[in-house]
Amino acid sequence: MAKQVKTIGVLTSGGDAPGMNAAIRAIVRTAIHKGLEVKGIMRGYAGLLQEEIVDMNSTSVSDIIHRGGTVLYTARCQEFTTADGQKKGAEICRKHNIDGIVVIGGDGSFRGAGKLSALGINTIGLPGTIDLDIACTDYTIGFDTAVNTAMEAIDKVRDTSTSHERCSIIEVMGRNAGYIALWCGFANGAEDILLPERYDGDEQALINRIIENRKRGKKHHIIINAEGIGHSSSMAKRIEAATGIETRATILGHMQRGGAPTCKDRVYASIMGAKAVELLCEGKSNRVIGYKHGEFVDFDIQEALSMTKDIPEDQFQISKMLVR
Ligand code: ADP
Ligand code: F6P
Repeated sequence: MAKQVKTIGVLTSGGDAPGMNAAIRAIVRTAIHKGLEVKGIMRGYAGLLQEEIVDMNSTSVSDIIHRGGTVLYTARCQEFTTADGQKKGAEICRKHNIDGIVVIGGDGSFRGAGKLSALGINTIGLPGTIDLDIACTDYTIGFDTAVNTAMEAIDKVRDTSTSHERCSIIEVMGRNAGYIALWCGFANGAEDILLPERYDGDEQALINRIIENRKRGKKHHIIINAEGIGHSSSMAKRIEAATGIETRATILGHMQRGGAPTCKDRVYASIMGAKAVELLCEGKSNRVIGYKHGEFVDFDIQEALSMTKDIPEDQFQISKMLVR
């Protein structure tokens, strides 16, 4: 028979992402609607181990759906990667009568959730990262906002790049994944898109394209470079030296992680948050919620972590065709 969950906890872990607050709000309100108690665990697994646990009610999550960041704060916690840390975490949950936890974060956070589940605390993971690099899902909380923020910033760089007839390398986040770079490459009409999944390191070919474009009368050359490739500043110096065209590097950085979530991030995060509580109420544990082929679905955590994904090849080919 399904274990009857009475009190649930919620935490955010790893890098923050716009829309996490919408998920927290949905988790708290759905739980209350179902007659459960809810506790907010501050600062991810670090806060769990420090017993930074607060009671939450409906008004604790008022006025947050439109805010970036996470009202529960977030952290990375080395201690929780150890067996002792995980055991301590499960004991603290029991001490606070927490029998279910929703963990909002990325793959690392899901590994931690899997460990808690094995120790008897029912856990559900929600994909929260701007990087879109979680294999079991086509959507992650925060990607839509981050990619729109980056797109708007790149439009601005493009204006000044054109005025000065320069080449610009703009570096976007994504850790080892190129999703933000690919999407911005499309959306900003970039002349070149460098993705860690596909970049062959042929800088001479890049330089040749810049020279060729200039001969064809192009006033700017925008290169979107993914963080996973990096080295934008040194690349800019080499390009300027080789082409004679003034070249600037702009690293967008953490501004991509902040700001008011888009409508999509608010709505999808809310639905995922509500579904996480529904799964806990059904006695489920060790699951991750994802969005696949237009539907919200859930997977076993270990199954989700064993999946892989890559930049869709057809999208990559189209992106290359459109820059010419
Ligand atoms: P993300 O969740 O965004 O992938 P991290 O990889 O930094 O971010 O993981 C967030 C936190 O999850 C880590 O600081 C750690 O506390 C926990 N974590 C990561 N890997 C493990 C693991 N193998 N076992 C237990 N906890 C883990
Ligand atoms: O995972 C989200 C992310 O913003 C990545 O895109 C980036 O590589 C990383 O986090 C940066 O982490 P930090 O905020 O610790 O510098």
